[in-house]
Amino acid sequence: MDELREDVFLQDDLLEELREEDLELETEEAEQGSGEGLSDVTRRTFIQGSVATGAAVSLAGGNLLQPEVLHAATEPVARTINLNVNGEAHELEVEPMDTLAMVLRFKLNLTGTKLGCDRAECGACTVLIDDVPHYGCSILVHQVRDREVTTVEGLEQDGVLHPVQQAVLDEMGFQCAFCAPGFIMSMAGLVKANPNATRADCQKWLAGHICRCGDYNKILNTAERALENARTA
Ligand code: FES
Ligand code: FES
Repeated sequence: MDELREDVFLQDDLLEELREEDLELETEEAEQGSGEGLSDVTRRTFIQGSVATGAAVSLAGGNLLQPEVLHAATEPVARTINLNVNGEAHELEVEPMDTLAMVLRFKLNLTGTKLGCDRAECGACTVLIDDVPHYGCSILVHQVRDREVTTVEGLEQDGVLHPVQQAVLDEMGFQCAFCAPGFIMSMAGLVKANPNATRADCQKWLAGHICRCGDYNKILNTAERALENARTA
């Protein structure tokens, strides 16, 4: 694709040179009081035609804009990648534009990861990548090959709830709970990154999440309880 762009830029430069040449010719012709010479017209027309055709050929992969060729060129190509999720290695066929959240939900059936806005605004899709919270909707699955992804399904270990999960039960922290998996994964990241976080720290850390039920006070109580649970575990 980079080569294509380079090609098109080079052709743009050539057209620009021709336009300048045209201007010079017109000036010369005006000075000589004659009309355009046949050889000039032929040369310019030929080069400009070649450049335009060249661009079309380049963009169509040398097949002169056959619709089926253009279609094939824009078809996504599936690739096989290795993905580590919740301690398990998966070999998956994915397309270049598949996001991590899409693959988790629709290929691995890990539906605990929610899709709300699908554009980095609500935080419902948050998962941990190497223990750091990320929006799963805004990261391509190719970018997390060979890294460790943790979803809400992977928090419980050998039947023991994660301190954050326990805190949700202790504080009854959510109403409809659609936003819960995202908040829980961010809190799990916080417990690891800053076990002594204050309520104000929790507020800042969780700022990238939206709870449509407006349950923020209870959610902050849950975050504080999670930190306490982790410290006393
Ligand atoms: S679904 Fe990813 S941030 Fe909203
Ligand atoms: S509890 Fe309903 S969206 Fe947060």
